[in-house]
Amino acid sequence: MQDYCDERNPVANLYVFLDMEDKLNSLKARRAKAELGGGQKRIDAQHEKGKLTARERLALLLDEGSFEEFDTFVQHRCTNFGMEKSHTDGDGVVTGRGTIDGRIVYVFAQDFTVSGGSLSKTMSEKICKVMDMAMQCGAPFIGINDSGGARIQEGIDALAGYAEIFERNILCSGVIPQISGIFGPCAGGAVYSPALTDFTLMVKDTSYMFLTGPSVVKSVTGEVVSQEDLGGAWIHTSKSGVAHFAADNETEAIESLKKLLSFLPQNNLEEAPLKPTDDPVGRLEDSLNDFIPDNLNQAYDMYTVINSIVDDGDFFEVHASYAKNIIVGFAHMNGQSVGVVANQPKAMAGVLDINASRKAARFVRFCDAFNIPLVTLVDVPGFLCGTQQEYGGIITHGAKLLYAYGEATVPKVTVTLRKSYGGAHIVMSCKQLRGDINYAWPSANIAVMGADGAVGVLYGKELKDEVNPEKRAQLKAERTAEYNNLFANPYQAAQKGYIEDVIEPATTRFRVIRALEALRGKQQNVPAKKHDNLPL
Ligand code: HXC
Repeated sequence: MQDYCDERNPVANLYVFLDMEDKLNSLKARRAKAELGGGQKRIDAQHEKGKLTARERLALLLDEGSFEEFDTFVQHRCTNFGMEKSHTDGDGVVTGRGTIDGRIVYVFAQDFTVSGGSLSKTMSEKICKVMDMAMQCGAPFIGINDSGGARIQEGIDALAGYAEIFERNILCSGVIPQISGIFGPCAGGAVYSPALTDFTLMVKDTSYMFLTGPSVVKSVTGEVVSQEDLGGAWIHTSKSGVAHFAADNETEAIESLKKLLSFLPQNNLEEAPLKPTDDPVGRLEDSLNDFIPDNLNQAYDMYTVINSIVDDGDFFEVHASYAKNIIVGFAHMNGQSVGVVANQPKAMAGVLDINASRKAARFVRFCDAFNIPLVTLVDVPGFLCGTQQEYGGIITHGAKLLYAYGEATVPKVTVTLRKSYGGAHIVMSCKQLRGDINYAWPSANIAVMGADGAVGVLYGKELKDEVNPEKRAQLKAERTAEYNNLFANPYQAAQKGYIEDVIEPATTRFRVIRALEALRGKQQNVPAKKHDNLPL
């Protein structure tokens, strides 16, 4: 293929002598070459690994015919290590604008076939350009990462390029939704930029996230580890919590990404789109009336409650495999997008630990930043205690969730199903953390702690002093009954106005929707400040 326009080789530059038809042909040829990225052989290698190319990914992501590509012909400017002899139009990233379900988004997709998708200064300029456009236009920004990080041959220029992207990630944060797909082995800046965005999706078996890959790990620390064990999808969605979603393949990952976007507004000044539904607002779910086990310590599945109250039983879970003792995700209620936060009695009795606190805090803050009301379903025995949690800093991490709910100004509707004890009661969107409308089921227990713990603290000495085992057991039963009579119900809280109402479980969907409607247009301010000092 003849390159008529090579400014680095004036002798070969015949472009000026071409007529318009030839110029059009030249354009087509040059575009076709750019679209091949690192060449057919590397594209085949990408396909053999079960991966798509950057352009194939964008074609799946964006509405057909909506993609407007920018900077197709941009090339790197590096002259180190003979790099001046190797140029690819586009320089390893495809950037531009398109629509998803008719809504504008700005995108980039790195092309692993060109220098392993590594980031040159030029690539960073292309990415920064679409980030700036996304910010100016108030549209979401989506990055598909498939990159070995900073392009080693460019040295400090590549690092400067990443810093410029990070700075924009930070400025965009809380203004436009930022979503990262991890669609290959991603290292260095290619994982730090996603870490600054709102949601990260991975693909099982083909995508990895690490500071640096296994070969560099081996040379630095001597540790021998596979890509999968170092930073595969399972590690980051269930162990580290760095990624929010793991899909079986790229097509599924892109479908998830689109679904996620359907719950989100374009920016922090807008509301999420309404999703019309035939699910009646007043639908009663009679099965909920006898859903809660009589035994306080018996587990049940909170998903049943969530699915039965949201529109069409459609709940889109975030961070499903991480800290399963708390559930977070999006749903619609009478068409309105809501963020659901719920303790899960089926996992560790729904206790709040470090991971659950971090997971829920981040989700609550996201919803608050983007005007998505919060629906909180409470059944929490407390914070997990013990040395492991204390040494890990449960106090600071638990405070994150406390902080997140306390600062949130979006409408907050809370329903207490069963246990709501101690600090965990406060944290889970209680009235005094500016919970707007708080309901409880008749099965609710709202207290400083459960009866066993309380009787032990209040009457431990008395029980110890009773030497007759039968009498001791009877005394304990009496004290427990006394405590339960006082606190094993929602009415102490209701009498004091700490909850708005005790509701029939079957009516929960209707009551929550009506509460959300009552809160439409809610305005609440926070004191002026440079920024807060969240306990990080
Ligand atoms: C230049 C790179 C590159 C890089 C990969 N390549 N990473 N070129 N700079 N950072 C090139 C390879 O030389 C190779 O080129 C091609 O991409 C494919 O790479 P392979 O290693 O063959 O692929 P694979 O076995 O799949 O391994 C992928 C990988 C590994 C795990 C990403 O390449 C790797 O570990 N790369 C280095 C990762 C890294 O440490 N990056 C720097 C991070 S520092 P050829 O021509 O042979 O096909 C950073 C700074 C930001 O990013 C700091 C943030 C705070």
